[in-house]
Amino acid sequence: MISSRKKVLMAKTFYVTTPIYYPNGIPHIGTAYTTIAADILARWHRFRYGKAYLLTGTDEHGQKVEKAADARNLTAQVHVDEMVQSFKKAWERLDIQYDDFIRTTEDRHTRTALKIFKALLDKGEIYKGEYEGWYCISCETFWIESQLVEKKCPNQECGKMVEWVKAEEYFFKLSAYQKRLLEYYDSHPDFVQPEVRFNEVKSLVTRGLLDICVSRKGLKWGIPVPGDPERSIYVWIDALTNYISALGYDPEKKTPALLFKDLWPADVHLVGKDILRFHAVIWPALLIALDLPLPKTLYVHGWLTMSGSKISKSRGGYRDLMELLEIYGPDPLRYFLMRETPFGQDLDFSEEGIVRRLNTDLANDLGNLLHRVLSMVHRYFNGEVPEPSEPGEADLRLQAEISSLSEKLERFLPLLQFRDALMSILELSALGNRYVDESAPWKLKKDGKERRLASVLYYLADLCRILALAISPFLPGTAARIWSQLNLEGDVHHQVYSEFQPGKLVYGHRIGKPEPLFQKLDQLV
Ligand code: MSP
Repeated sequence: MISSRKKVLMAKTFYVTTPIYYPNGIPHIGTAYTTIAADILARWHRFRYGKAYLLTGTDEHGQKVEKAADARNLTAQVHVDEMVQSFKKAWERLDIQYDDFIRTTEDRHTRTALKIFKALLDKGEIYKGEYEGWYCISCETFWIESQLVEKKCPNQECGKMVEWVKAEEYFFKLSAYQKRLLEYYDSHPDFVQPEVRFNEVKSLVTRGLLDICVSRKGLKWGIPVPGDPERSIYVWIDALTNYISALGYDPEKKTPALLFKDLWPADVHLVGKDILRFHAVIWPALLIALDLPLPKTLYVHGWLTMSGSKISKSRGGYRDLMELLEIYGPDPLRYFLMRETPFGQDLDFSEEGIVRRLNTDLANDLGNLLHRVLSMVHRYFNGEVPEPSEPGEADLRLQAEISSLSEKLERFLPLLQFRDALMSILELSALGNRYVDESAPWKLKKDGKERRLASVLYYLADLCRILALAISPFLPGTAARIWSQLNLEGDVHHQVYSEFQPGKLVYGHRIGKPEPLFQKLDQLV
């Protein structure tokens, strides 16, 4: 019989990815949204199961990036080298704990993308051919007549006019995968989440698939097609393979790289709704063609909008991400983004919303609880966690709520229900504040009920410890500050899950000085 600890050690490492971002501009709050969600998921898995692997990176080839470099009068390479630094800086400031950052201009990636293209050519899955048909320039996609909506691109987020084009290029036999994809979708009902997105994919594939053009003639800023340097590999084929090139996948080797063996298939690819089709149709077909297993889940999230429109580099009109971070700090921003709307739906971004959540949930609720508890431990017990006596009814109720929090997190987090998880954590902190009010430690002191006072403050200090652990995947900096004010040993982000139980705080432990966790903001800056 295998013990549960051994099982965890033997289990595959949880592998979560973000899309790789176009470095045609600096990152904005919209791109940060996907990255924060992936970071929370990875942090939760590290805490719960001991390991996780988060991959992010940049998608550096293609016309979009080339144009952006031209506009700055820079070579594409100099431009991307500079932009990548701003992505890395932003992720650092946002406390994103990624395990690897892949750039598609890196050797380790271009080599693999080339080998994959060649392997598919050798297998006859990619062929050179002439094609005539409807083409959407913006999505770089061919469509069949029946898919068009009033002669326009059927991609809901595009809707632009299509053009009739003739091309001699390389094609991937996507049409041959319709049946296999539909069978796969049928037998894997959780493959795309939320369900509404899965339905979109199924109906798209049911309507029919065309072979896709996987090369571009004349595109200079790309990976050249093997044996045909006039053409470059289509940027989406190049980009999708990052999820395995970063793991050392090599189609020419019989023995897989260790990292690939441990991590693949990915547990979750996080993607925005605009890039669902590439991930739910093209990527699985490519993987089937390579005889590789498919990712377990694609989680599709909505957009951050402003006045109903997607926040994007081309639209502008939003505050710079680094400036937002300067004003509000990473945790209030992370909190607002994940607390405000169920993940999967669109979220209208507003700075008023951040201020409101910061002042109420974070400062009034969580911050206030910690400050009250630590101050009272100092005032009544000289900063030493007192010894509790047998728990009374209210204490047992509090402990039951703590235990139910761990059940809730285990239920909500694998489904990326971040909002529900945060609401449960904040409800527990509100319960803590009510427990303070109801047990009125100041009155216990006045009435000389020292033993009861000791119990109440023990349970409260222990609750603060639990809250630091629970909040750690969401608000890493805040969790670390609570941990440090409690003067607990080690790093809150290196704690084992068995610590996530009431009663683990050692009495006699000396806590640190209370300091405000959050500064309230009176108005918009
Ligand atoms: N390079 C491709 C992805 C290749 S993955 C193999 C790409 N890049 S992107 O920079 O345009 O977008 C990357 C991700 O950021 C997408 O998931 C997209 O949905 C997300 N977001 C960009 N703007 C966004 C919002 N305003 N709101 C939420 N997510 C947003 O597509």
